[in-house]
Amino acid sequence: MPTYAIIGGQWGDEGKGKVVDFLSGRAHVVARFSGGNNAGHTVLNEQGEFRLHLVPCGIFWPDAKCVIGNGVVVDPNVLIEEIEGLQARGVDVSSLQVSDRAHVIMPYHIVLDKLEEQARGGSAIGTTERGIGPAYVDKTARSGIRMGDLLEPETLLERLHAVVPAKNALITKVYEGTPFDVDSLFAQCLEWREQLLPYIAAVEETVRSALKAGESVLLEGAQGTLLDLDHGTYPYVTSSNPTIGGASVGLGITPRSVEGVFGVYKAYSTRVGAGPIPTELNDEVGDEIRRRAWEYGTTTGRARRCGWFDAVAARYSQVVNGLTDAILTRLDVLDGMTPVQICVAYELDGKTIHDMPSRSSDLARCKPIYRSMSGWDTPTAGLTQWEDLPQEAKTYVEALQEAIGCPVSLISTGPNRHETILRTTMIPERS
Ligand code: GDP
Ligand code: IMO
Ligand code: MG
Repeated sequence: MPTYAIIGGQWGDEGKGKVVDFLSGRAHVVARFSGGNNAGHTVLNEQGEFRLHLVPCGIFWPDAKCVIGNGVVVDPNVLIEEIEGLQARGVDVSSLQVSDRAHVIMPYHIVLDKLEEQARGGSAIGTTERGIGPAYVDKTARSGIRMGDLLEPETLLERLHAVVPAKNALITKVYEGTPFDVDSLFAQCLEWREQLLPYIAAVEETVRSALKAGESVLLEGAQGTLLDLDHGTYPYVTSSNPTIGGASVGLGITPRSVEGVFGVYKAYSTRVGAGPIPTELNDEVGDEIRRRAWEYGTTTGRARRCGWFDAVAARYSQVVNGLTDAILTRLDVLDGMTPVQICVAYELDGKTIHDMPSRSSDLARCKPIYRSMSGWDTPTAGLTQWEDLPQEAKTYVEALQEAIGCPVSLISTGPNRHETILRTTMIPERS
């Protein structure tokens, strides 16, 4: 009953979509377990270029069953749009299932996300304004609406009458916004029910049965370890647990099934939204990385903040998740740049430290201490064999491997599925 997890090792957008699409050819089930449509996962393969927010990136492999677990918060409008968009492009989505335990992002969550961000003023988090935080707040407060509630209209209406007045009080009295009408929300839910009925299922059972039958399950992480609600740079984090612990809770599977935990890192650092990123380059080198890599958000289009690879943060992610392997993406972005730098320690208040501080205020004062390495002249873009990498690129990857603390088993040299160097089996071929 092997499970393999793809976890973001940095601040999100590490290229998880590309890697999940590549590795899904070996999986029986591909599952999202946390976050919602704050995620934007890009896939480029023979069927075209796709930006997925909720549907797992395994959807392009007809033999892989794709499921959205209980830990995900689902905006039904986005899910319906995504399903229709994929169908219009000839992608078969009939295997898709969404958990009846997954919480619904209601229209008032999206409004509250925006109002709360405005109210934060100068200390705004820079959320994606997709209603993620408020939906998880309601889940924890036991005021949420779940996908399964759509299946029982009578109970759903009672539930809306129970929870919406408190939301309206918050919207109108604290933020002076416009209240929601229960009947209109109910009508909206019935429309969602109509369109999503074939997909709502007991996903946890599907995944557990697959594991029992000895099938392999690929977990598609969203966001990244440093955006984790508990282990990230709080409060500049998302409202779920994108780390490996979140996978167990977010799908209802035992952690004992997890055989491989693969952390995805890009060959440098980026972050979108507010919060500390010690290696951020507010200069022409940072602009150059952003320009070369087109570092603009997949979900919101915002410019991503760019900097050199942060090995202190990377090792922290390795430890938090117990990574068995690292996956390095976007190596090609550094082609022709020299020198390339790796942050190997921080200087905090005159002292050299090698661990991530738990407080964002401390991390914001950390100054990176760099190891400088020579770059490479011949391009890595599109390469598929380790042996073909220029020596300096190999040395750079080996230095990252040493710093992260686990082997780099897969290297991505371009956005296309085939632009990939696989150094070990990682996941056995599907039987
Ligand atoms: P995710 O959220 O982790 O799935 O990452 P995103 O899709 O938000 O952002 C990653 C971007 O990098 C996308 O535009 C991908 O197409 C692209 N990408 C992924 N791997 C590579 C790579 O190895 N090289 C290059 N040049 N681009 C890549
Ligand atoms: P993928 O899966 C990068 C960031 C937001 C913001 C913070 C909180 O594509 O890697 P939220 O809307 O979640 O309440 O915003 O988290 N964030 C991401 N950054 N990639 C993501 O997902 C992200 N999902 C959320 O920018 O800083
Ligand atoms: Mg993304």
